[in-house]
Amino acid sequence: MRYRAVIFDLDGVVCYTDEYHYLAWKALADKLGVPFDRAFNDRLRGVSRRESLRLILERYAGPALAEAQQAALAEEKNALYRRYLHQMTSADLPAEVKSTLDALRARGLKLAIGSSSKNAPLILERVGLGDFFDAVADGSCITRSKPDPEVFLKAAAMLGERPRDCLVVEDAVSGAKAGHTGGFAVACVGAAARAGAGDHNFRSVTDLVEILE
Ligand code: BG6
Ligand code: MG
Repeated sequence: MRYRAVIFDLDGVVCYTDEYHYLAWKALADKLGVPFDRAFNDRLRGVSRRESLRLILERYAGPALAEAQQAALAEEKNALYRRYLHQMTSADLPAEVKSTLDALRARGLKLAIGSSSKNAPLILERVGLGDFFDAVADGSCITRSKPDPEVFLKAAAMLGERPRDCLVVEDAVSGAKAGHTGGFAVACVGAAARAGAGDHNFRSVTDLVEILE
């Protein structure tokens, strides 16, 4: 087996919370009169909350917003987003993700999360994965979000593994860049796979099982 560990992005890879990010940012953008569609939303994948807001405000035609106003907007989006998260249950863990995680664990691979989100612990708990991973590196333990590799390097260090022995799984182009910059091999699904950003570009996480035999 080539890899010793797999580090998963969370939103859009382990569960479809990326859709809730989209809905919450879209509601905020509509309120601000900022054009916001799914293609633009793809640029926010993997990017921190404040950096996402900065990208949205680049399209804002109104007067410059003070730091406190920007913080309030980021908080407003997060409150809306967390309302979706609190409605999640273990039924929101896709069956193919659960079976893939179980298959990889049965092969003796260490499994971790590397996510820019500060809501990662809440999401993992809601979908029944609160105690599943060997390490969780998230938005509260980093100073730079993807495309900086910090979160993946933290996850690898928590696992006691070298980047070259870990495979990163991502749905964001920014996350694929983070993985490559950190010296990891990267498997992509979703938007990043469609952009051809990974060393492997898959239709489904279940395809991981084949390359991790
Ligand atoms: C990433 C998402 O996982 O986390 C981004 O892809 C999001 O869209 C980022 O902005 C930060 O998440 P949160 O939950 O801390 O606002
Ligand atoms: Mg993601």
